[in-house]
Amino acid sequence: MLLSDLPTPQVLIDHTRAMNNIARVQALATAAGVRLRPHAKTHKSPIVARWQIDAGAVGIACAKVGEAEVFVNAGVTDIRLPYPVNPSNASRLIPLMDRSAISIIVDHLDVVRGWSDAMRRAGRTLDVLIKVDVGFHRCGIDPNADPLAFIQAVAALPGVRLRGLLSHAGHSYHAASEDELRTIARQEAETLAGLRARAARSGIALDEISVGATPTLRFSAGQSGVTELRPGNYVYFDRTQVALGAASLDDCALTVLATVVAKHEGRIILDCGSKTLTNDLARGITPATGYGAVLAGDKDDLDYAREIDETLTIERLSEEHATVRVTGETRLKPGDRVRVVPNHSCVVSNLVDVVRLVDGDRVIDTLPVAARGRIQ
Ligand SMILES: Cc1ncc(COP(=O)(O)O)c(C=O)c1O
Repeated sequence: MLLSDLPTPQVLIDHTRAMNNIARVQALATAAGVRLRPHAKTHKSPIVARWQIDAGAVGIACAKVGEAEVFVNAGVTDIRLPYPVNPSNASRLIPLMDRSAISIIVDHLDVVRGWSDAMRRAGRTLDVLIKVDVGFHRCGIDPNADPLAFIQAVAALPGVRLRGLLSHAGHSYHAASEDELRTIARQEAETLAGLRARAARSGIALDEISVGATPTLRFSAGQSGVTELRPGNYVYFDRTQVALGAASLDDCALTVLATVVAKHEGRIILDCGSKTLTNDLARGITPATGYGAVLAGDKDDLDYAREIDETLTIERLSEEHATVRVTGETRLKPGDRVRVVPNHSCVVSNLVDVVRLVDGDRVIDTLPVAARGRIQ
């Protein structure tokens, strides 16, 4: 099947680019002597997880128990949930522990006590890592507010085995420069390594220091003390990562194939609205306005032109329409097709049942996005 045979909109994954991204980041982790545990939130696909594991990843990360269920059923045997999973999910998590090494994060005493009770009742022991807030101010203990007391309390609880410390530098998405990204990665590693040293002095050995965010990935790999990298977005990348300097346009494996459905003075309309591109805006060091970048060229594959068509700005989305402002003239007319690099690839995958794996202008496979929508 050719791309031209597909109805639009379609989410396409360029096979070569995805494989190159997997290989490059695995090589980065291997060279730094750290384990790679990709976050599956970006692809939500057991097939892509298998590519990552075959390339050398130790397992995957998932946000929700529902996602973990899909990947355990697909045979993934090591899953970390870097999400404050509530003990009310114990009856679903415990059966997964029979088939896969499962670990979660904790950052609140009531929650970890709840897990301790649930595990003792089940006669099990759950691996936990303490989530540390390194500046994103979402989840995690404050490393400056008596963290040792929390570490000691978790280490003393039965039913849970404290494996280490974990962080996600989500604030890196708002960095204003490459230097700031480098600083965030260095400070993150120093904070965690410092905490581990304090824990060691009080007699608690923490084996793991897990960090992970695609914008800081290239700087985190070489930080001393880090044992695990947990990036997600790198498998496909997107316009935000290009704007953050974490990827080039040629690395972006996920694109949206869309058709021009209308043309009027100063604008064209595409058939990919917020139900495909989502309303996420790009963040980054270099400005990237609008809801995605339209690639230039008049062929279906990506080999012909890797430039953004700067005359086109996706300035407005309705559910099924993208309103594209045209600066000057465009040759595009109704019926023509374009490829769009979305601002945020993870949320785009979550909106489709399948993605099409492509090689040039050929569709080589259809991948179910099996864990999409598994938000519970
Ligand atoms: C806890 C956690 N770890 C890792 C990641 C992966 O980050 P990224 O997609 O920037 O690679 C995320 C992303 O949201 C996350 O929330």
